Amino acid sequence: MREILVLYYSHRGSVRALAEQIAAGIHQVPGALARVRTVPKVSTVCEAVEDDIPADGPPYVEMADLEACVGLALGSPTRFGNMAAPMKYFLDGLTAAWVNGVLEGKPACLFTSSASQHGGQESTLLSMMLPLLHHGMVFCGLPYSETGLMQTRGGGTPYGASHVSGHDGRTVLSEAEARLAQALGRRLARIALHLAG
Ligand SMILES: Cc1cc2nc3c(=O)[nH]c(=O)nc-3n(C[C@H](O)[C@H](O)[C@H](O)COP(=O)(O)O)c2cc1C
Repeated sequence: MREILVLYYSHRGSVRALAEQIAAGIHQVPGALARVRTVPKVSTVCEAVEDDIPADGPPYVEMADLEACVGLALGSPTRFGNMAAPMKYFLDGLTAAWVNGVLEGKPACLFTSSASQHGGQESTLLSMMLPLLHHGMVFCGLPYSETGLMQTRGGGTPYGASHVSGHDGRTVLSEAEARLAQALGRRLARIALHLAG
């Protein structure tokens, strides 16, 4: 028998129900066996709780920050071609903002960093759009009038700003990466101001 892993996370059981149906389908195939597994919640039950104020860097975001902004630049390291769990965890906690349309009509842009050049920056940037689309945000990328897009030998994409950090994660931003990131910031700010009237 060949085992097929059905790995899911479910809070209230709908995904679990789907997983059970998928497993049933697998079992209908001769020679196939479903191995169903789940993952733990990311919560105070299994994770240490951070201090209210980070040891360094900017403060943690609050709902008031989302309410106050007229645009959003959202960044995450690339992790297995997708955003990192802490960012996803934060986004998953934004039901109240979604219900109240806190981000609706506001422009957003995206940025990421990955170790390798073809390690999934574009998939990360594009998938980060998805939750923001549910919030009704509008998107701002980089146009090819930014000539750095053609010249860069590292990061910088039409989908957002990016950096290739190398296998040890220590490579500093190239001039082209920095220039493109600034251009994106500018573009977002201009559009945000325009939309905000
Ligand atoms: C769990 C994990 C998954 C990662 N997945 C990818 C990946 O899919 N592609 C890639 O090129 N780098 C990957 N990396 C490397 C990070 O994307 C890379 O080090 C990134 O620059 C980290 O950004 P940061 O310095 O802002 O944390 C991964 C790193 C970790 C810890």
